[in-house]
Amino acid sequence: MFRGGQTLFTAVSGSVIGRSGAVDLKKFNSVVKNISTASVMADKFKLPARYGAGEKSVWVEYIQLAAEYKPKVNLGQGFPDYHSPDHVTKNLAQITTSDNPLLNQYTRGFGHPTLVANLSKLYSPLVNRQIDPQNEILVTAGAYEALYSAILGHVDEGDEVVVIEPFFDCYEFMIKCAGGVARFIPLKPKVTDSETQTSAQWVLDKAELESLFSDRTKMIILNTPHNPTGKVFTMEELQMVADLCKKYNVLCVADEVYEWMVFEPKKHIRIATLPGMWDRTITIGSAGKTFSVTGWKTGWAYGPAALMRNLQVVHQNCVYTCCTPVQEAIARSLEFELSRRDSPDCYLRSLARELLPKRDFVVKSLKENGFNPYVPEAGYFIIADWTKLGDKIDLSKESDRYNDYRFTKKFAKEAGVLAIPPSAFYSEQNKNLGENYARFCFIKKDENLALADKLMRDWNSSKKQ
Ligand SMILES: Cc1ncc(COP(=O)(O)O)c(C=O)c1O
Repeated sequence: MFRGGQTLFTAVSGSVIGRSGAVDLKKFNSVVKNISTASVMADKFKLPARYGAGEKSVWVEYIQLAAEYKPKVNLGQGFPDYHSPDHVTKNLAQITTSDNPLLNQYTRGFGHPTLVANLSKLYSPLVNRQIDPQNEILVTAGAYEALYSAILGHVDEGDEVVVIEPFFDCYEFMIKCAGGVARFIPLKPKVTDSETQTSAQWVLDKAELESLFSDRTKMIILNTPHNPTGKVFTMEELQMVADLCKKYNVLCVADEVYEWMVFEPKKHIRIATLPGMWDRTITIGSAGKTFSVTGWKTGWAYGPAALMRNLQVVHQNCVYTCCTPVQEAIARSLEFELSRRDSPDCYLRSLARELLPKRDFVVKSLKENGFNPYVPEAGYFIIADWTKLGDKIDLSKESDRYNDYRFTKKFAKEAGVLAIPPSAFYSEQNKNLGENYARFCFIKKDENLALADKLMRDWNSSKKQ
């Protein structure tokens, strides 16, 4: 078949039969040549098989959607719509125009010296050991690249990687890219009688988790605090993961980008601090999340030198070095926060306090508007069940395969509030587990959260008429 379902005959005949009805042989030969060149090229230059079908990214699709529908409030992608702390952005402005021209040039490939030094100062007391800034820390192009380097630096052809669902969607692609095989296990929400549902209800089944581990297992990816549920893994859960890692000699990649957004009384526990885990854990952080500057796309990984060496090899050959002035600005910002580490004003402490009323406002608004939200213990996302609204919204004209895509698109068109469909965070075989939910991001200006509330109320009342 050719373009638009044409056969070779219709494709060729339309353009080569002249007015007299005779075939123009020269034209005929040239059309056939073009068609066969196109199909030979399409064959040779298709997406390499190891990337699978090259599924559409939910981020690309929903950014496009936001541009198209212009929803009045975008609670989709995870970034603040307000300024980061003043000192952070001022640092960058000053650095780029400072007297030191080298701050605008390439810097040390594995991390700008002042940044790795300050990351070591920040994390050493948190993991109860002196982290060597030269050999045990790598600065990356966002936590994304830290994940990429950790996965590509360790996963070999046929290795298995345990992934907890719902998961940050790039994990699966990166595993495939390395030739590995992802083995998925979903967190399942426990049913309770309580009026209030929380992210703590999303739990792993111990036997199911162990059944995924074998001699073939190379790695488990553990995201705590968790996106999209907001779950903070408990000590017992981490111990269960750590025991399996040790029993089966498995590496743990701990994606902890939401480490500074944990709501009291919950506490973030770093799995690298559990007995015997430092040697087999790579922990990942993000300056974008830490300082509310997601557009700076700077992150890091830290862990024992032998493991970090493998990340360095990937990094030096695909990114080589990250943006110097941004690294210097983050280094200075960390220095400042470290100098007021014990003060309640330290941003690493105040960020969660700032987010708490926003979380509570959106949870209340979602409840009052017919959703069933799980109150997150951390992060800036809320997973909410939308199915009680099912009889108020006609999804039959939406063409997407999964109901959460249909719901979030229709709801954006009708109510003007955009959320993310969580089935994007599940493997193909488990996408149905995400279909009843929508993910709302609440790190937004209070006035925008209030507007979202109003829009949802207006939508609900329009349905009553
Ligand atoms: C769980 C998780 N890991 C990693 C990242 C990527 O972080 P960065 O923007 O620093 O690349 C995100 C971003 O949303 C995330 O939610």
